[in-house]
Amino acid sequence: MAVTIALCFLLALVSATRAADPDMLQDLCVANAGAGVKINGFACKDATSVNGTDFFFAGLANPGPTNNTFGSLVTAANVEKIPGLNTLGVSMSRIDYAPSGLNPPHTHPRATEIVFVLDGQLDVGFITTANVLISKTIKKGEIFVFPRGLVHFQKNNGNVSAAVIAAFNSQFPGTQSIGIALFAATPPVPDNVLTKAFQVGTKEVEKIKSRLAPKK
Ligand SMILES: *[C@@H]1O[C@H](CO)[C@@H](O)[C@H](O)[C@H]1NC(C)=O
Ligand SMILES: *[C@@H]1O[C@H](CO)[C@@H](O)[C@H](O)[C@H]1NC(C)=O
Ligand SMILES: *[C@@H]1O[C@H](CO)[C@@H](O)[C@H](O)[C@H]1NC(C)=O
Repeated sequence: MAVTIALCFLLALVSATRAADPDMLQDLCVANAGAGVKINGFACKDATSVNGTDFFFAGLANPGPTNNTFGSLVTAANVEKIPGLNTLGVSMSRIDYAPSGLNPPHTHPRATEIVFVLDGQLDVGFITTANVLISKTIKKGEIFVFPRGLVHFQKNNGNVSAAVIAAFNSQFPGTQSIGIALFAATPPVPDNVLTKAFQVGTKEVEKIKSRLAPKK
């Protein structure tokens, strides 16, 4: 009996460590982005040259500009901005939304996301692999969770700006925006793939491609 319980506990532990970034093997491993060594993450900076700056970022303090196509802006605070996050398995973002702004459907292949509303009100949702939409309206002070890898979005249907802080269980969650990935990839996804996938004509595909093309 005790052995069974111990085994279950061990299995739970193993699956828990598999559910996020790999576990750390030392106190800290501040990213040395210039190391030129290709590993899973970044090589460690010499510990003697580590200081508070490596663990600091002020970039989420203020709203960013949201006057773009979608009326939203994601400001990431991941290992690229905070080298001290390397191997620690967490990161954050701030997302700002203009009135009617949308953070369009996207996924984070390496992290679950939990958002806390700083200001305003948002209609949010994710879609399960059974194609069920799980959605909710959230307002200042409230939290919503987007499970790892599932397509999700946030829309500001209010008439004032909104903002959230998002936390991730990965130092570098990765973002794949569905529309951009399919219609603005380089080199482009062939039209005949998209016409068949979406059951529309080449004209419609070309129209979406031109709308989503990176702004020059
Ligand atoms: C930390 O070290 C960097 C150089 O690696 C230096 O530019 C910075 O001023 C130092 N910061 C503090 C708080 O000592
Ligand atoms: C957004 O607004 C800023 C300042 O108000 C301006 O400098 C910038 O050109 C605008 N960007 C777009 C894409 O309109
Ligand atoms: C914004 O919405 C609120 C409540 O829905 C309403 O009371 C207010 O008049 C609206 N403001 C504007 C500028 O439309």
